[in-house]
Amino acid sequence: MTSTVLITGANRGVGLALAQHYHQAGWQVIGVCRSASAELAEVAERVIDNIDVTQYDDVARLAQSLDGTRLDLLINNAGLLRDEQLGKIDFETIREQMEVNAYAPLRVTEALLPCLGEGSKIANITSRMGSIADNDSGGRYGYRASKAALNAFGKSLAVDLAPRGIAVAQLHPGYVQTRMVNFGGLISPDEAAAGIAARMEALTLETSGGFWHSNGEPLPW
Ligand SMILES: NC(=O)c1ccc[n+]([C@@H]2O[C@H](COP(=O)([O-])OP(=O)(O)OC[C@H]3O[C@@H](n4cnc5c(N)ncnc54)[C@H](OP(=O)(O)O)[C@@H]3O)[C@@H](O)[C@H]2O)c1
Repeated sequence: MTSTVLITGANRGVGLALAQHYHQAGWQVIGVCRSASAELAEVAERVIDNIDVTQYDDVARLAQSLDGTRLDLLINNAGLLRDEQLGKIDFETIREQMEVNAYAPLRVTEALLPCLGEGSKIANITSRMGSIADNDSGGRYGYRASKAALNAFGKSLAVDLAPRGIAVAQLHPGYVQTRMVNFGGLISPDEAAAGIAARMEALTLETSGGFWHSNGEPLPW
């Protein structure tokens, strides 16, 4: 039977590359976004647009429109990078990043639980900038804290969902050439998507809850 993947932030960047990757691999792709793109429409079986993942009503509408459709894979990919400078910290950008990067993946996952069952998997697209052990350059208060919070949420989800046979991974895509980093990354979105897909293929209930680079390297918390 054909497998189904749902990807948030699927209209561009890593999310679009994931949609293209899974389409080519023969999966049914459900692309979730605020505004659809022509590239996404080409590869997605279904595009569910006008979904701001920070909005409770939008996420409720997403769950309703899925109506219990079985998801083999949920990829919480939508994300936001802002910057803060010590001395003039903008708590509004910190709040925004917490909403998009941490609360939204938890909210989406909880809302879509009726679509997930034995054998389903969840990928939380996090960042190594969420690693406290790996932080030797400081700054990025909101981004780092929001991805660290996402990692904590992901670990709890892994524990709580293990009895239902659902495995969860926190995956750093790599430094990827997308708008988020002004296209200045080291790897292409396609390479990141292939790595993420390989990690999710390899993920089991025994390895659930881990934090990895898309190249397979385990990352420290
Ligand atoms: N690029 C990197 O080097 C890098 C490194 C580490 C981690 N990551 C993570 O990888 C993931 C994908 O990032 P990317 O590089 O592909 O960035 P991107 O090109 O900037 O894409 C971000 C995606 O998130 C969506 N998004 C943002 N806020 C949203 C909201 N409130 N509701 C719904 N969708 C929202 C955007 O939708 P719109 O088009 O509507 O804005 C877009 O689809 C993110 O979680 C990011 O933190 C990226």
